Amino acid sequence: MEKIRILGIETSCDETSAAVVENGRAALSDVIYSQIEEHKKYGGVVPEIASRRHIVKIDDVVAAALDEAGLELRDISAVAVTHGPGLVGALLVGLNFAKAMAYGADLPLIGVHHIAGHIASNYLESDWRPPFVSLIVSGGHTQLIHVKDYDNFKILGKTLDDAAGEAYDKVARCLGLPYPGGLEIDRLAQAGNANAIDFPRVWLGAGSFDFSFSGLKSAVLNHLNSAKMGGRKVNPADIAASFQQAVVDVLVKKSIAACQTAGCGKLAVAGGVAANSHLRRSLEKACAAHGIVLHIPKPAYCTDNAAMIAAAGYYDYIKGRFDGPGLNAVPSLVLGESNEIAKATL
Ligand code: KG4
Ligand code: ZN
Repeated sequence: MEKIRILGIETSCDETSAAVVENGRAALSDVIYSQIEEHKKYGGVVPEIASRRHIVKIDDVVAAALDEAGLELRDISAVAVTHGPGLVGALLVGLNFAKAMAYGADLPLIGVHHIAGHIASNYLESDWRPPFVSLIVSGGHTQLIHVKDYDNFKILGKTLDDAAGEAYDKVARCLGLPYPGGLEIDRLAQAGNANAIDFPRVWLGAGSFDFSFSGLKSAVLNHLNSAKMGGRKVNPADIAASFQQAVVDVLVKKSIAACQTAGCGKLAVAGGVAANSHLRRSLEKACAAHGIVLHIPKPAYCTDNAAMIAAAGYYDYIKGRFDGPGLNAVPSLVLGESNEIAKATL
């Protein structure tokens, strides 16, 4: 079998990453330089700092990805790069690097949608394949997508305001926890009582697969403020556990309902929040109870990485779908805009 090796590049937010993936499945390398320490003191990602750090790091990160894979540029079949959605300055660094590399080495260039990358993280080191329903839960996105084929996505629902990870990060900030707060809340919640506070679950009507987390975030803030005004002490672990329970209840119930409505017995999860221990356990339980097969990538493939971009790029490569030097960074790129997307409702 011919070995198709895609070099993936991802710089859409605060991770500078490059990877080599063989035949869409085997990650020969996955180098990730995380800028978290640089953004921590500001309590969130500062776009200008992110772009500048990508410029400083991209050269070494790509060289390390080739090195770890034991390959040279002449062994590579194509360069796949995230061209949206994301921070425009950050995207441009990876995109321009990829364009120059593809041009210089006479390789095909493949622009990848960041969410198509998260979906493809399920293909890494596994034989998972479409059709399936995918729950994407990250700092920037919360979506339920019916993945009918490798290049055929139908968006079933998405958040109308905050992404799940964004809610985790904002609540963590209110509790005085460092950025990014998801992992911190995950840890703190383990010592708390998930039934201590009845935070709201927003369903948005029967049959809706959309999400809303901004009210939940405000409810946590109101709880903290009213305790402060009334001179009452709060238990941060109980708040973390109760908040997390409210998020997980909604994500799990809507994911199961989406599988049932789509007539699909397979659910795949991806994005940074997929690393959440309570979400993973709850999905395992719910899927087992409803006869749904569940797949969650290992945590390193859940958060932003270039192996998932290379894996997604492979399916464009085998269909001969390449981009030209005019490929641009699109901060609000819609999934399926350049691919096939079913627009019909269920
Ligand atoms: O996918 P990702 O690396 O970047 C985006 O594309 O947004 O996701 C980052 C998000 C952050 O909001 C972070 O707090 C959250 O994922 N996260 C978690 C956990 N680990 C990371 N949220 C809940 N529990 C975790 N264990
Ligand atoms: Zn992401």
